[in-house]
Amino acid sequence: MELTLPALQEKLREWKGCPLHETANAVLGEGNPHAEVMFIGEAPGEQEDKLKRPFVGPAGKFLDELLESIGLKRSDVYISNVVKYRPPANREPTDEEKAQCMPWLQAEIALIKPKVIVPLGRHALGHFFSKLSITAVHGKPQKLNDSVTVFPIYHPAAALHNGGLRDSLFEDFKALKQFLDEHVRSPNPEVRIPKSEVPS
Ligand code: URA
Repeated sequence: MELTLPALQEKLREWKGCPLHETANAVLGEGNPHAEVMFIGEAPGEQEDKLKRPFVGPAGKFLDELLESIGLKRSDVYISNVVKYRPPANREPTDEEKAQCMPWLQAEIALIKPKVIVPLGRHALGHFFSKLSITAVHGKPQKLNDSVTVFPIYHPAAALHNGGLRDSLFEDFKALKQFLDEHVRSPNPEVRIPKSEVPS
């Protein structure tokens, strides 16, 4: 039997593999189960813990704005986090917590099968490319394998503390839209498959 998102949700609620479950609610990702684009943040914050939904606090409001700026709605994409519980006082998640929660993110990726994964910030980027720095590669697509591209972008919360990053985030979303238009959802199939690769 193939696992569904609601079944995954239920399993996560019963899971005790990460000590953060003692102080916080489980927050799985949410969105379109057939999304081509998946956004991955760091860990839930206060609002997310309260509502048991990802990205519904101030960083989430900004993420909604960024999505809207490129014509996307939350219901078009899938949004999740590396760590499934709010760390106390919003401290950064530890390597151990990230490793403990990793199977849940992997299960979500396996179910959604996104074509483009957007890690928001360095914790999510580190899940895919441990040696790359977000400062160096934000806005630049990185091939993960034949079917998935990772498109790193700064975490929206970073712009709430550092106004200078706001423009950079809008720019990176514009670049993401261009990438999606050219490689993922082009109405013209010839754009998707370069002519040289089409067998004659
Ligand atoms: N920051 C994150 O990384 N994830 C959330 O869900 C909310 C804020």
